Amino acid sequence: MNKSDLENFGFLKIDIPKDINLVEEIQKLKKEKNAVILGHYYIEGDLQDVSDYVGDSLQLSQQAAKTDADIIVFLGVHFMAETAKILSPNKKVIIPDLKASCSLAESCPENDFAKFIQDNPGHTVISYVNTTAAIKALTDIVVTSSNAKQIVDSLPKDEKIIFGPDKNLGNYINSITGRNMLLWDGACHVHKQFDLEAILKIKSENPDAKIIAHPECESPVLVVSEHIGSTSSLLKFTQTDTSKKFIVATESGILHQMIKASPDKIFIPAPALDSTCACNDCNFMKLNTMEKLYNCLKYELPEITINEQLRQKAEKSIIKMLEISEKFGIK
Ligand code: 13P
Ligand code: SF4
Repeated sequence: MNKSDLENFGFLKIDIPKDINLVEEIQKLKKEKNAVILGHYYIEGDLQDVSDYVGDSLQLSQQAAKTDADIIVFLGVHFMAETAKILSPNKKVIIPDLKASCSLAESCPENDFAKFIQDNPGHTVISYVNTTAAIKALTDIVVTSSNAKQIVDSLPKDEKIIFGPDKNLGNYINSITGRNMLLWDGACHVHKQFDLEAILKIKSENPDAKIIAHPECESPVLVVSEHIGSTSSLLKFTQTDTSKKFIVATESGILHQMIKASPDKIFIPAPALDSTCACNDCNFMKLNTMEKLYNCLKYELPEITINEQLRQKAEKSIIKMLEISEKFGIK
């Protein structure tokens, strides 16, 4: 492979013989290389099924911090793999496609966020984990959708807080904590597109269905939702709640585990404003494929690298999150 092949590696399906069993080969490579595969709930089902651990952002960072594997293969998006590298600098962290970005992380450029902080002195800076390492380095405490409420609640009532980059999650946390955090104006392109009217129409046709939503959704969708939570919280709710039907307002990948855990229940993906698109799919998450995973493990590329000074700065804000989560027993 030449250098540009390597740089573009995520998009190439190099050398994959047609007749191999990808699942078996992936398992073999994983064993040979003492690698662990961490997968987010939004990746395709076949990838979730070959992962050693499937979880939400917090659970995956907790796993990344404690694994004793030599290689972490991250099936998710870039900021998640970067978080793993920040927490495990001596391990090799690889991701099937370096182009697996995140619209929410992209909505918060470093220089603009630094200026926002500078223009609003005296604030504690809380950032959602969906950010680049550069933003984490400007942050006091990182949060995920699993622990944002408890972390905000753990701060003194009069503490002035900047919250970035997701204004929908920020608004939601303000509403349930009674805070008035200053919000960065960012959003996720998948979660902001759910169509309230279409959701309510489905609900009127299925009055026994419960609407459940990720807090990255816009506030009108959250207002009509009967459960709001992180991906793992939504999954757990569908397992423990007595309802047999759910209208699910988040990325479609989560349905794989919901159906697996409760095959007798019905899951209706919440519709998007544009009914012609596959808008419930995060195109970044869906860049992960079995073929790319196989090549990624085989060649141990592409690798996540991070400048050590930046890593150390970013690490502090993530460690703070993990410490507070441990204190409150959040898993
Ligand atoms: P969770 O932390 O709930 O898994 O969310 C991650 C994410 O990217 C949601 O869009
Ligand atoms: Fe980012 Fe949205 Fe994709 Fe989650 S669903 S990874 S927030 S773009």
